[in-house]
Amino acid sequence: MKNLIAADIHKIHPIRTLLLCGIALLLIAASNFAVAAEPVLELAFSKQRQKLARADLLRHPDVRTISVPLDVSYKRKMEYRALPLKSILRNLHGISTVQFKSNDGFVANIPTELLSGASEPWLAIEPANAPWPELKPGGRSAGAFYLVWIAPEKSNITPEFWPYQLVAISESAALAERYPHILPDRALQKDSAEYRGMQVYVTHCASCHQINGGGDAKLGPDLNLPFNPTEYFQADFLRKYIRDPAAVRHWPQMTMPGFSPSVMDDTQLDDLLAYLRHMARRKQLAADTSN
Ligand code: HEC
Repeated sequence: MKNLIAADIHKIHPIRTLLLCGIALLLIAASNFAVAAEPVLELAFSKQRQKLARADLLRHPDVRTISVPLDVSYKRKMEYRALPLKSILRNLHGISTVQFKSNDGFVANIPTELLSGASEPWLAIEPANAPWPELKPGGRSAGAFYLVWIAPEKSNITPEFWPYQLVAISESAALAERYPHILPDRALQKDSAEYRGMQVYVTHCASCHQINGGGDAKLGPDLNLPFNPTEYFQADFLRKYIRDPAAVRHWPQMTMPGFSPSVMDDTQLDDLLAYLRHMARRKQLAADTSN
């Protein structure tokens, strides 16, 4: 029936139909063009608000070709056209944490002192005419913008501080200040296993997970609500899972990395588990402060 009606309209208004089709095609072409537009990196600081287009960044006089001997995301030697981060973030005075947001929900909150320390952060920029390899077969590359480090070992830069597919860089405050729901009981000593474990959590886990609905990231499940993994994982298996998720179960989309003893030693893992067990008794949903 539908086809018949369409055929009738064609018969009655062939020229108008052609025109309409033409306009529709133009609209589709225009929207495709918008999707394929130049990637843009947003800077959201109170003293610096900017949208930086890839082509402009690549023309910056400080751009160099750098070599990264062991790239965290590609797990091999890589070369990049890159800009020292300090060439674009001009004034970090008074800012405690800088937040790097990726387009998949990953968020790295990097303490400002690390950005001006012995390890040098660089913004790698993927040239349109020389794309980087894909991260996983059939997937996207780490571009168009990727934070890489020269001499990461000097300040012990963890794998979570190499955010890729960046869309925005902004100023921030420490996670526990912004989301007090992730804090252990305040009656505990600041050097207790639970507090130390929260630091391990903030450094290694909060870039993907939330606790009690508190945190910036939305890539992995909340680790306390409705249930905490210490409630439904046998202790040995949870340990195994954190060290190497694929040792417990695996499937093609697995996103969570393993944390080897070189990244997180046994004491840190013990502290992290003490924190998680403690938080299982402190379930309260944080007010959603995300925008
Ligand atoms: C790069 C992102 C990322 C980081 C970093 C990360 N996770 Fe995950 N995690 C995930 C995702 C995504 C899942 C869901 C399963 C998957 O796709 O791998 C997950 C699943 C889990 C699970 C299983 C939950 C369930 O019920 O199946 C646990 C437990 C967990 N993560 C704990 C942690 C801890 C503890 C840390 C820090 C040491 C951490 N994760 C760091 C992304 C991450």
